[in-house]
Parts: sequence; structure tokens; C-alpha cells
Amino acid sequence: MEIIRGRQSLEFDDTELHEMLSGYQHIGLDLGTGDGRFVCGMAEQNRDKFFVGIDSCRENLRLNSGRKLSNALFVIDSAQSLPKELNGLASHLSINFPWGSLLESLLNSDACLADGLLSVTRPCASMDILLNGEALSATGWKLESGADQIERVLNASGWMTKSHSRLNANLLRTIPTTWAKRLAFGRDPRAIRLSFQKN
Ligand SMILES: C[S@@+](CC[C@H](N)C(=O)[O-])C[C@H]1O[C@@H](n2cnc3c(N)ncnc32)[C@H](O)[C@@H]1O
Repeated sequence: MEIIRGRQSLEFDDTELHEMLSGYQHIGLDLGTGDGRFVCGMAEQNRDKFFVGIDSCRENLRLNSGRKLSNALFVIDSAQSLPKELNGLASHLSINFPWGSLLESLLNSDACLADGLLSVTRPCASMDILLNGEALSATGWKLESGADQIERVLNASGWMTKSHSRLNANLLRTIPTTWAKRLAFGRDPRAIRLSFQKN
């Protein structure tokens, strides 16, 4: 799989990955990680856990992927074709404020995405998805009905809902991603958090 470190792109195989992950019980995977700020923050605050950020767009990752954190890694790939090297590794998945094809795949029950989510996770893994109103309206959905649709899709593909809650601007300000900050101070600070557990 292709990993990115600042301006450098490298091929990483199974052996290199398993060496890097050895000793870590918890592995968090952040899909559509954007600029990687969330992964770096989590890695800094939780040195005993390992975090992998994945995004299809390398440009936004140049800065944060260059930071020297021994418990963080950034992978360039699409969420619909997750690298097989990650199979069975993640104890937690996060998808923060998806847009574009990632959001479309969640709404439309795309089997490539759904199968990938099951493949990269361990039994009993958890998953948090944060959705925002503006991204959903760009796909023709309202915030609440779009979130309900994604919940139905995931319930039908191996994920049991643990909670479904609304977030306002104050709550968005506490979420350590670039997009959460942008939304919190923007004109449409409505969001929903869906939490799941793998069946
Ligand atoms: C609104 S940004 C959110 C970024 C970050 N999670 C945050 O909260 O700051 C959505 C991200 O999803 C990524 N994305 C969209 N479709 C994707 C796909 N199919 N596979 C991987 N990443 C995707 C985009 O490149 C973008 O970085």
C-alpha cells in the first residue's frame, strides 16, 4: 500500500506494517482523514494507541503526514478499495464529515465500501461517523433523513447502532478535526454523530 510522509510517497508491505504496529492493542482508522489533524492529535494524546489516516487526496496530507509521530501513519487510497494490508487490524473506525464519493457510498450502500469496512475491522470493533448538513444537502438529502439512511445502510451491512445524536456549534468546537472547526464557525453548524458496533 502507498503511504505518505510529507513530500515522500513509499510502498509499505505487510511485514513493515506489522513491525510498526507490534505492541499496539488499539488501532484506530480514520477514513477521509483530510489534512490528518485528527490522527496527529489522537496519536499525540494516546501514545499507547496507533492511528492510521486514509484519504484519496494526497495534497492536503503533505504537512501533517511529515510530522514525526511513531504511532501514526497516513495511507493514500480510496475508501472503496482499502488496502488488504489493513485487513483485520482496526479496533475503531472514524469517518469525520465525509463528502464526495465517500458520502455517496455510505448513502447508496456501495458494497465496495461496506465490504471494506468489515474487512479492515476486528470482531466487536466500534465506528463513529460525523455527518454535516451542508455535505448531505449537496447530495440531495436533508441532515436527519440522510443520517437515517446511512444508519439503515450500515445496520443492514453488519453494524449495530449504539447512539444517534445531534451536535451543535458548541459541541462541534470540541471535536479535533479541521472540518469540525470550520463548521462550528460557519453558517450551517448542524451535525449528527452516529456510533456503531460491529455485529
Ligand atoms: C470534508 S473533508 C473532512 C476531512 C477530515 N475528516 C476533517 O474532519 O477535517 C472530506 C474528506 O473526505 C475525503 N474523501 C472523499 N471521498 C473519499 C474516498 N472515496 N476515499 C477516501 N477519501 C475520500 C476527501 O478527500 C476529504 O479529505
